[in-house]
Amino acid sequence: MQTPQATGAHYAEFYRRSIEDRDAFWREQAQLIDWHTPFTTVCEYGKPPFANWFVGGTTNLCHNAVDRHLATRAGQNALVFVSTETDEERVYSFRELHAEVQRMAAALKTLGVKKGDRVLVYMPMIPEAAFAMLACARIGALHSVVFGGFASVSLASRIDDADPVVIVSADAGSRGGKVVPYKPLLDEAIRLSSHKPAKVLMVDRGLVAFERVAGRDEDWASLRQRHLDEPVPCEWVEATHPSYTLYTSGTTGRPKGVQRDTGGYAVALAASMKHIFCGRAGETYFSTSDIGWVVGHSYIVYGPLIAGMATIMYEGLPIRPDAAIWWSLVEKYKVTVMFSAPTAVRVLKKHDPAALTRHDLSSLRTLFLAGEPLDEPTARWIADALKKPIIDNYWQTETGWPILTLCNGIEPQRAKFGSPGRAVFGYDVKLIDEATGQELTGANQKGVLAIEGPLPPGCMQTVWRDDARFVETYWKTIPGRMVYSTFDWGIRDEEGYYFILGRTDDVINVAGHRLGTREIEESIASHPNVAEVAVVGVADTLKGQVAMAFAVLKDGAKAATPELALKHEGEIMKLVDEQLGAVARPARVRFVTVLPKTRSGKLLRRAIQAVCEQRDPGDLTTIEDPSALQQIVKLVSPAA
Ligand code: PRX
Repeated sequence: MQTPQATGAHYAEFYRRSIEDRDAFWREQAQLIDWHTPFTTVCEYGKPPFANWFVGGTTNLCHNAVDRHLATRAGQNALVFVSTETDEERVYSFRELHAEVQRMAAALKTLGVKKGDRVLVYMPMIPEAAFAMLACARIGALHSVVFGGFASVSLASRIDDADPVVIVSADAGSRGGKVVPYKPLLDEAIRLSSHKPAKVLMVDRGLVAFERVAGRDEDWASLRQRHLDEPVPCEWVEATHPSYTLYTSGTTGRPKGVQRDTGGYAVALAASMKHIFCGRAGETYFSTSDIGWVVGHSYIVYGPLIAGMATIMYEGLPIRPDAAIWWSLVEKYKVTVMFSAPTAVRVLKKHDPAALTRHDLSSLRTLFLAGEPLDEPTARWIADALKKPIIDNYWQTETGWPILTLCNGIEPQRAKFGSPGRAVFGYDVKLIDEATGQELTGANQKGVLAIEGPLPPGCMQTVWRDDARFVETYWKTIPGRMVYSTFDWGIRDEEGYYFILGRTDDVINVAGHRLGTREIEESIASHPNVAEVAVVGVADTLKGQVAMAFAVLKDGAKAATPELALKHEGEIMKLVDEQLGAVARPARVRFVTVLPKTRSGKLLRRAIQAVCEQRDPGDLTTIEDPSALQQIVKLVSPAA
């Protein structure tokens, strides 16, 4: 399938049309989904940067993901759940998925959920999480899935922002054979939040005993039983009706609720399944992400199902019981398209590559990787081990589907190591000089990767309940022009291939998980003995980056000896674990008496990061106290 000679000329024409003949292009793509009422306007962009796609049309995400397949593939696999944590394997056909989603929709309605209401989903990787998402879409409610690895303070801020009527949760998840209770974290989060949900719908997996709050907590199994055969028709909603919010980190401590529409999202996913992932109805898609992240929304739940594919939901580690587990699923379910993250590959890399090919991988066509930079050794190792094409793709929670990749469904194109590929159809990608706001049109010039409005279908509509924040955060960062900033640096070569060079803001990427350093700083600063703290992302061979914290204690003597420092480091790590979750825990906490700042009091995070990575900290003429950076140099020098 891969023709290394392909120049991409055919793709270039496809791409050109998507930008220059935008409405005609998307009108065609819109035929990939079912509409209840046809749209009258493809793109309404009268009030930039707010774009309304497929105006006048009505549709439903759940209908497109589930119901419309009943006529042709009711008996085929839709959702395959495999847990190596609880030793479960459950397969739902489209007919069975349809029944389960209706039961969940009926239960949510009984609990008072109406069109436009929010339902927060705080769940491990179990089918009921997907039922809840699809059930919300079915009745026109918005889901707001919070990653199960987040703890009570993270969860509380999301509860307050999303203002959910109902929270769907479970007794526990499990990781590496260890039960991780969810309910105590949820109870604590509800206690901390000012908004109190009316009801909590609990899925009891029987993993751990938990307390029920009378009048608030409801049991999924009994509600399901009561609504076994109750039909709940799809609510036809406007294409612009919000389908969900998903929180993501940025520069400020407060996470942003990325709000997505319905029609544009369904069309974009359908188009991406066809032209990027090349998945066909009746086949099986396996994304190893988590439903708590955007990849899980787009490519565990909605994308594959919209395309009529079976989707695998996997709870467990990639190396337990051994490094062959994922590949045994590829063989068993004849997976044709797989999607993972470079970190997972780096984890596998520590194991014998023979484990990957112990199974019959003949069904697998392509492995897609995304979420963080794909380094060359990792890409080569997995390509050699699998002997399959590896395709990198770059995008963000905000966009919902790839911005840069190789659209091999249009034309097979040569992959280049280190590059996620070319601009994806619909995205008018530009590189902008940060200082002047000028577009960089030449090859190999470094600039901020930006997208000219309107953002294509499927991207964020706005920040939930905060249009002003949407405009200020994303569209006003570059002087003199209104353009969407990705907050990533990039360059483009002569052939239109982009290379991503890291974030322009304080976001870090730990094992493919996007985290805001400010959120972690706020959590550490709530420790009674911490006066000040700086958190930076430091390069790591396994996780891509890890968080490293430098703290000033209120009483410096508290970290005077290595033993005391170790004790405080442990305390701070525990605090972050409890408040934000283990994903945000800094890998190291070091103590200093003063932090490097400019004379105007701005933390010199980039200089700290450079020093931690043994790089030149650059221009330090504005530093207030040069000895502050010296303390960090000493702490992180390889000899220390
Ligand atoms: O910095 C980029 C990095 O991850 C950020 C987006 O993370 P998130 O919102 O969690 O969405 C992930 C969706 C796949 C980006 O701003 N990033 C994502 N993919 C890549 C990447 N960096 C380099 N290469 C990639 N393929």
